[in-house]
Amino acid sequence: MPAAMPRRYGRPRYHYDCVDSTMRVAAKRARLGCPEGTVVTADQQTGGRGRHGRVWYSERGLGLYLSLVLRPACSPEAAPLLTLVAGLGVKEALERTTGVPCDIRWPNDILIRERKCCGILVEMEASRETVDHVVVGIGINLNQLEFPADFAPTATSLRIETGRDWTRTSILDPLLDSLHSCYGLLASRGPKPIIEAFQQASSYACGRRVVIEGLPDGASGSTRGVTAGLSPAGLLLVEDGHGVVAPVLAGSVRPDVGTM
Ligand code: BTN
Repeated sequence: MPAAMPRRYGRPRYHYDCVDSTMRVAAKRARLGCPEGTVVTADQQTGGRGRHGRVWYSERGLGLYLSLVLRPACSPEAAPLLTLVAGLGVKEALERTTGVPCDIRWPNDILIRERKCCGILVEMEASRETVDHVVVGIGINLNQLEFPADFAPTATSLRIETGRDWTRTSILDPLLDSLHSCYGLLASRGPKPIIEAFQQASSYACGRRVVIEGLPDGASGSTRGVTAGLSPAGLLLVEDGHGVVAPVLAGSVRPDVGTM
């Protein structure tokens, strides 16, 4: 998908002791013309951003906080695929490095035993027809032993799951390699193998009862259904109680633990 992919990601790499958000720093560098593959990391973020306007807690030394600049030669409509590729790359790297099986909750939350250990935020700057750049932001919970009360029931860290500490570099290098090969697959073979790989990798892709929290107009509310695979564009398809299948256009996917 990029006109010419770099041989590796992480060249150049800018590391900061403390920033508000690596997303802001990476987007600024992208606007100034940095090459594809540029990586921004930080020990700590004071304004870490999550999806749907949430905060991403980014305490010093406990997590890996990184943003990767991509320059895909694609239309803005291909953005959902870039989001899936990021999730596949993180899952592959974490499993290979830690030996712990990971799941992907569409579009790209990485879960271990149903708890979130990594969040991914993809932000794009584009005109109507072409993408100028994409910033892929990845936050991985490395060494937390506990979480704020709001997150405690749904979050985990590699430390909790493996019983040992993880350095940032022990995860960063394999992660950049995996992301590079997953984006390379999209570039060389198109969306189909990505959709197939995602459907294999995610227990949420097919036959899962889910609640979609949030409505396309931004209003609060929820809808329920059973997942029915991905559309060719990478959107999650959900079948409602009347057999109508529709793509998820907005909102967060959660397991439905109630009755339909
Ligand atoms: C989510 O809501 O699940 C996405 C979280 C993304 C967090 C990462 S940490 C590095 C980068 N900088 C940010 O401000 N956010 C992303």
